[in-house]
Amino acid sequence: MSVAENYARLRTDGEATLEVGGATYDLPIRKGTLGPDVIDINTLYQDTGCFTYDPGFTSTASCESKITFIDGDKGILLYRGYPIDQLAEHGTFLETCYLLLYGELPTFAQYKEFKERITRHTMVHEQMTRFYTGFRRDAHPMAVMVGVVGALSAFYHDSIDIHDPEQREMASVRMIAKMPTIAAMAYKYSIGQPFIYPKNELDYSANFLHMCFAVPCEDYKVNPVLARAMRRIFILHADHEQNASTSTVRLAGSSGANPFACVSAGIACLWGPAHGGANEAALTMLQEIGSVDRIPEYVERAKDKDDPFRLMGFGHRVYKNYDPRAKIMQKTCHEVLDAVGHGDDPILKVALELERIALSDEYFIEKKLYPNIDFYSGITLKALGFPTDMFTVLFAIARTVGWIAQWKEMIADPMQRIGRPRQLYTGSAERSFVPMDQRQA
Ligand code: SDX
Repeated sequence: MSVAENYARLRTDGEATLEVGGATYDLPIRKGTLGPDVIDINTLYQDTGCFTYDPGFTSTASCESKITFIDGDKGILLYRGYPIDQLAEHGTFLETCYLLLYGELPTFAQYKEFKERITRHTMVHEQMTRFYTGFRRDAHPMAVMVGVVGALSAFYHDSIDIHDPEQREMASVRMIAKMPTIAAMAYKYSIGQPFIYPKNELDYSANFLHMCFAVPCEDYKVNPVLARAMRRIFILHADHEQNASTSTVRLAGSSGANPFACVSAGIACLWGPAHGGANEAALTMLQEIGSVDRIPEYVERAKDKDDPFRLMGFGHRVYKNYDPRAKIMQKTCHEVLDAVGHGDDPILKVALELERIALSDEYFIEKKLYPNIDFYSGITLKALGFPTDMFTVLFAIARTVGWIAQWKEMIADPMQRIGRPRQLYTGSAERSFVPMDQRQA
């Protein structure tokens, strides 16, 4: 069925009337299950000759999705309808993966089979280890992740045909299974320690901690409190609607690029400090503030329009209330700090006081700037033993299932076509070439 025929099948729940150049146009309104209605402007350009203009996509729905719902005013986050706090409290990360990928929580039999499949694909092709030696030891691990994940398409030729559902499924399983291994290898390489192979008897989170912190010379026992915290952190970061990196994965996938290349593009986008890089930037900021008495100076800087400084870990495009993940992150932060004996970490004191001051400051209240997931995750990840430059790598491990679920949904969407935005052109009108000897400085 053509896109136009599929389009004609969409349900209309009313109309918006638009007047352009003296003519009136009725635009279909479409309702979702939850959240704002959308005004369908698919035919706007062909009808009116006008584009819409929405840099940053603050008012634009790029797709229809059934995966994740966010209510920014109420601070709600649902994965396939299930509240994030319930999943983080009661589920495993692979249960969340199954839910995001297939739409329902797995039965015991489904979960066992899925876990088996993932476990069987946690190793990487042994030749991939050679990629790491091409990087400087002090390369940022996100640079390594972009390179090595993109290179997966050079190894797994039997799962890059996006039109073959079985190959799409195999690529999904491989991506989710191998990300912790690739990430742990990036960490080990950066500290000059040998790579540690995955252990099939460990669950996803414990396996990752083992691959990061075990050494060949002695047994490594995973601390269950830290493994539980890792599980929760992975669940909290798994998906988040059409955020910048997910939109990057969808856009890359809309051209037919293979899933490994799309996820590599998502990792590159996530790296930015305004997005996934904020957890690294937030901890660096807290360390720079250093003590409670220096907080007012930084809060004033964050409010100063002429100062590019922002409070990292604060604010969100969608959440104009407390990020529901930040609350769970704060609780996890206390648990981990207590477990590792850093309950009195001065950085935590700075974070708690900064949050208290910011939440009572008129500027932050008026602009609805609340702590987001990245505000407490940095302190927690540091307490788990990770260096700051690994924080966004952990975010990428967790978000891989979200990227893959959204990529699969986009590929299967009958309305899907290559994403190709237009522009408001304000450059030069047409003009003729001037030979160099006739040009004026
Ligand atoms: C993530 O989209 C997602 O879902 C992302 C994410 C996910 O799970 O995928 O949730 C993960 O990326 C969380 C966000 C992490 N980033 C940070 O913590 C970096 C600091 N935050 C800001 O850079 C900012 O708040 C953004 C990028 C998060 C949101 O930017 P917006 O929506 O474009 O908002 P904005 O930059 O237009 O800010 C609105 C106003 C501005 O003031 P005015 O121009 O209106 O006068 O608020 C101010 C901003 O200057 N502002 C801040 C601020 N964040 C916004 N001022 C001080 N400190 C801040 N942190």
